[in-house]
Amino acid sequence: NPRLYSGMQPSADSLQLGNYLGALSPWKRLQEDHDAFFSVVDLHAITVPQDPSTLREKIRRTAAQYIAGGISPDKSTLYVQSHVPAHTELAWILNTITGFGEAGRMTQFKDKSSRYGTDAASVGLFAYPVLMAADILLYQTEVVPVGDDQRQHIELTRDLADRFNSRFGETFTIPEARIGGNEARIYDLQNPTSKMSKSGESPAGIIWVLDDPKVNAKKIMRAVTDADGVVAFDRENKPGVSNLLSIFSGLSGRTVEDITAAYDGQGYGAFKKDLAELVADTLGPVREHANELMADPAELDRLLARNAQRANEVAEATLDTVYDRIGLLRRA
Ligand code: TYM
Repeated sequence: NPRLYSGMQPSADSLQLGNYLGALSPWKRLQEDHDAFFSVVDLHAITVPQDPSTLREKIRRTAAQYIAGGISPDKSTLYVQSHVPAHTELAWILNTITGFGEAGRMTQFKDKSSRYGTDAASVGLFAYPVLMAADILLYQTEVVPVGDDQRQHIELTRDLADRFNSRFGETFTIPEARIGGNEARIYDLQNPTSKMSKSGESPAGIIWVLDDPKVNAKKIMRAVTDADGVVAFDRENKPGVSNLLSIFSGLSGRTVEDITAAYDGQGYGAFKKDLAELVADTLGPVREHANELMADPAELDRLLARNAQRANEVAEATLDTVYDRIGLLRRA
């Protein structure tokens, strides 16, 4: 089976609906016919300030949501990034072949650093995409399923792999991004031209996977729409309704055409009510299962340790080749 790699940051108490639709739910399908590795990228999360007293809990919660969302720790390798030292080791080496300007052109870095200011924005934040490239390349990954916002980072990963291969000899597989359709870009419910994000600012605009299903249903009912009352997909002129259609389609597996036809001439009431129910019915069981898993943190930790062992074996093999290619002495 083709090798697959992806990860999410444990940067909030819960994943948000965009993580679920753009990543977790495609991962669940893809693990069936791929040799899949999924990491909780804790070292990425600390590139912006994190509270040490809650970070550990967030890491476990993220892992629990992977499993509750359908990732099987028997079929797939599900582990915590910092448990595999090869990630930071390869990241250092890739840093040495990454252009300063090249890293500076990453739009996610530009957005985040402008939010934090140049001094609060760390060198770690700047090097973030290089660590991401290391994550992917260590596993000789062919497929990287991500949301649309990660497109540029995968491009950089491909460039770095290609550059390393041509300077030092064939070492890395060149990975490909697998980005879905409308569900790969879910927007904030209150501000439907900016993406839904764990670090987003509008409490009513973000659907949290682990939130009370009733609260989530209410947020859908109150989502911003428009005055024309027609359920139709038009990202330019009807961003709110289009976003709700992407969510509906992503959760139900029905096409946007099918959904718009079903609500033709009915206004937004029935459409929102059905979507609110769909969101609550989909995320409710994920919440329950994740809560069960979190009730036994020791068992969760054991599972993550077991999976990290397998990840370590694969990653170490690539790192040995890399050290050899660039002329370092073989480690004892
Ligand atoms: P992160 O933690 O921001 O997001 C995790 C995944 O969720 C997707 N996503 C979305 N999809 C649709 N609509 C949205 N509004 C939305 N918001 C987030 C993201 O595209 C992502 O797939 N850099 C990565 C984590 C990472 C990684 C990797 C991914 C680190 N190493 C290696 C793949 C391979 C990130 O910050 O994701």
